[in-house]
Amino acid sequence: MQAQIDQYTNEINAFSPANADELEAFRIKFLGTKGLIKDLFEEFKTVGPEEKRVFGKVLNQFKQLAEAKYSELKEGLTSETVNPKSEIDLTLPGDGFEIGSRHPLSLVRNEIIDIFKRLGFVVAEGPEIEDDWHNFSALNFPEEHPARDMQDTFFIRKGEGTDDIALRTHTSSVQVRMMEQGKPPFRAIMPGRVYRNEAISARAHCFFHQVEGLYVDENVSFSDLKQTLYHFVQELYGEGTQVRFRPSYFPFTEPSAEMDISCTICKGAGCNMCKYSGWVEILGCGMVDPNVLENCGIDSKKYTGFAFGMGMERIANLKYVIRDLRLFSENDVRFLKQFQSEII
Ligand code: DAH
Repeated sequence: MQAQIDQYTNEINAFSPANADELEAFRIKFLGTKGLIKDLFEEFKTVGPEEKRVFGKVLNQFKQLAEAKYSELKEGLTSETVNPKSEIDLTLPGDGFEIGSRHPLSLVRNEIIDIFKRLGFVVAEGPEIEDDWHNFSALNFPEEHPARDMQDTFFIRKGEGTDDIALRTHTSSVQVRMMEQGKPPFRAIMPGRVYRNEAISARAHCFFHQVEGLYVDENVSFSDLKQTLYHFVQELYGEGTQVRFRPSYFPFTEPSAEMDISCTICKGAGCNMCKYSGWVEILGCGMVDPNVLENCGIDSKKYTGFAFGMGMERIANLKYVIRDLRLFSENDVRFLKQFQSEII
């Protein structure tokens, strides 16, 4: 019996199947229900107690050897037949493909652009680093006038005898560039990033985004302004959204107004988004001050125009009920992925 087991052990150790059929033949020969091992165990039953003591262990080890060899070969054969001679295992599950999402400010910007494009407005852009003329003086902010303090400015260069250079505090500077460079009529919106020297909190940030609008032509009136903005709000927040204009002051418009809309969250009933007034302010606007037109080389006797400017974060806050400005710039995916299902 020992000699037989030794012979089979050698056979098993040397066994190397070329394919699955050979391996199956091996299994049937040694481990099958009518296999050799079964026979050996049958034979074992018939030997005397002395031999039982010796062979019990030998036989069990032999059986384990055959089983181990079989499962080792089987494993090797499966991955090799599926993927011969290659390191890549195509049976592994693939890496997931994550689809990104648009930033809420991009969604809002694209929607605003879409609405104004349908009204014949083009999109224009200007530099974020601006000189005093384009950010202030041309827009009728007198030198040393307190109106300049309306916006806390990040100056890059400031001093006697030099032109002040700053990060633009609003996109109204793009109006000036546009009017200086072209001839009326102008009908454009100007989205972009603006900067102010503010402490960062839920309600204020040192940078944010605005969309400026400008319409200059012969016979443009305040009623054109009202109708344009009314239409814009119906498109953006849905039919039935109420608007109201309140007199205000901006150096570059006369008359000036601020526009409120009925709160999109509580529909005017009162909530903490509208501080229980039912109204939320969304933009500043007015008729372009004749001084601004003249500063840009446009005949203010012949042309009139309206302008408006709105904060994109404010528009997004109302649309998506976002209450903390910091979320827009923190790149927290838990926040950003909520916009995955929005239109692209
Ligand atoms: N530039 C203003 C601001 O940053 C917004 C603004 C108000 C723009 C009235 C305009 C306007 O064009 O007519 O607060």
